Amino acid sequence: MQRQTLVVRTVAELRKVIRDFHAAGDTVGLVPTMGALHDGHIALVREARRRAARVVTTIFVNPTQFAPTEDLAKYPRTEAADLARLEEAGCDVLFAPASTEIYPAGFATTVSLEGPATVGLEDRFRPTHFAGVATVVAKLFTQSAADTALFGEKDYQQLCVVTRMARDLDLPIEVIGVPTVRESDGLAMSSRNRYLSPDERAKAPLLHRTLAQIAAALLGGTDVRSALSQGRHAIAAAGFALDYLEARHAISLAPVSGLAEGPVRLLVAARLGTTRLIDNIAVETSGN
Ligand code: PAF
Repeated sequence: MQRQTLVVRTVAELRKVIRDFHAAGDTVGLVPTMGALHDGHIALVREARRRAARVVTTIFVNPTQFAPTEDLAKYPRTEAADLARLEEAGCDVLFAPASTEIYPAGFATTVSLEGPATVGLEDRFRPTHFAGVATVVAKLFTQSAADTALFGEKDYQQLCVVTRMARDLDLPIEVIGVPTVRESDGLAMSSRNRYLSPDERAKAPLLHRTLAQIAAALLGGTDVRSALSQGRHAIAAAGFALDYLEARHAISLAPVSGLAEGPVRLLVAARLGTTRLIDNIAVETSGN
């Protein structure tokens, strides 16, 4: 359904709009993003529409979750196209603040994390990343006072970290994970896929294929250590620089040595040229 999306830039405007929704008896679903929207984000908006009367999407390229060596400056910013997609998907409000609205002069507070944020996956390669994510997400939760917030399973560790933070800090919001949306060849949709050269794009689906093969091998009785070892070889042989390929408990993200310790999630991060790709699947008969 096409509806006009109201664009707000300040926390005061956002609070007023959401107060009015709640006063009218409407529930609110929040979809936090950094923009450059693709079908994976639109799936979050559509799921939010199913679960709440009103949908608020945020677009904010959050500087505190990028290390100085990462791609903050070149991260794609496509607000006009994003707005058109949000209108088509039936989003009520786009909150697109300036950096100074989120981090005013003198800002000095950061959420400190343990548990799923310190398990040696993304945190090993991006040590300051989740503090930046959690801080901005905690702010978006309290600024919006939304009833539910939707996050893609594609960033699986992020989903676990945010879920845990909301629970630990008693933030009155329900965090919901939405299955990864994939291209027809299995590549997980990501705003960073646009950085891939044609040759790299052709290789990229191997990550998902390998995860699916490992899941099938585990379900067929292969032990975790050999299944992961074969997967690591296949990924390296295809020309990726592998950061990690791991089997972890799906909620705590602790290492597992067998399916009996599950539910089990397979997680991978690897670089193709200068592009870093991540993906994950559940080990179950219909893993996403
Ligand atoms: O997943 C993202 O796009 C970002 O990490 C998030 C959750 C919007 C926080 O900046």
